[in-house]
Amino acid sequence: METILLEKRDRLALVTINRPKALNALNNQVFEELDLCFRDLADDDDVAVVILTGSGEKAFVAGADIKELATLDTMAARLLSQRGQRVFNAIESLSKPVIAAVNGFALGGGCELAMACHVRIASEKARFGLPEVGLGLIPGYAGTQRLPRLVGKGIAMEMVLSGEMISAARAAEIGLVNHVTAPEALLEKAEALADSIKSKAPLAVRHAMEAVNRGFEMNREDGERFEAALFGLLAGTEDTGEGLRAFIEKRKPDFKGR
Ligand code: CAA
Repeated sequence: METILLEKRDRLALVTINRPKALNALNNQVFEELDLCFRDLADDDDVAVVILTGSGEKAFVAGADIKELATLDTMAARLLSQRGQRVFNAIESLSKPVIAAVNGFALGGGCELAMACHVRIASEKARFGLPEVGLGLIPGYAGTQRLPRLVGKGIAMEMVLSGEMISAARAAEIGLVNHVTAPEALLEKAEALADSIKSKAPLAVRHAMEAVNRGFEMNREDGERFEAALFGLLAGTEDTGEGLRAFIEKRKPDFKGR
């Protein structure tokens, strides 16, 4: 892969989008390689948590590649939107947590990519926005769907209609990001969260994500039924026995992922 750097260590995968000269804009090659990369991560049992970031000082991802967009006709643009939605859905439905470490501009498709991740942490230098209306477009990688779910319809509508950028501090205020850090502390903060998740029972983490993600799209009653089913399923695993015993015996649990 040329446009994606993938580093694995100690059950953590660090994925870096690497087109710094184009502010990591998502062209066809980035999408193909991002897709490949997340297929690999889905199949790799040694990876428990993923951190996703952008290369260089300036950008997480500055959006879809505008030079490529300029060449598209109606049908090609629709297919491009659907492909982007599919790849981002694969990230959202990965069975391991993906933490976006947003190091700079997260605009258009870049903001949509960050929103497909499970947790967002931003550097003070990060800027968020959906500027597509200024290009005569609308967000095409599920931004019109994920943003209202994350921050509420009113604030999402303002961002989508004005296309204006917001600061990292404002993104934290509206719930678009969970934490804001100094630029040099960003990866450290993301890794500390990854370490905390890695120390927990892997099957519990996986089922908790499923309960939140799937339950979010269900009505309350179905969501609770789904939660109870997963709760019951976990109770039969070795790790649940170990976690409960360890608490009673006042020691650290030794989870095996079974
Ligand atoms: N696509 C392609 N190239 C891009 C790009 C993009 N989205 N964003 C930046 N670049 C390129 C620039 O063309 C420039 O390349 P050259 O040096 O070859 O000219 C290089 O990256 C550096 O960018 P700037 O010189 O513009 O840097 P700046 O500091 O002056 O401005 C910026 C930074 C405000 C992020 C500005 O680059 C910008 O506004 N980028 C576009 C942001 C945008 O509109 N994103 C939405 C894209 S549409 C979309 O994403 C659709 C969708 O949902 C499916």
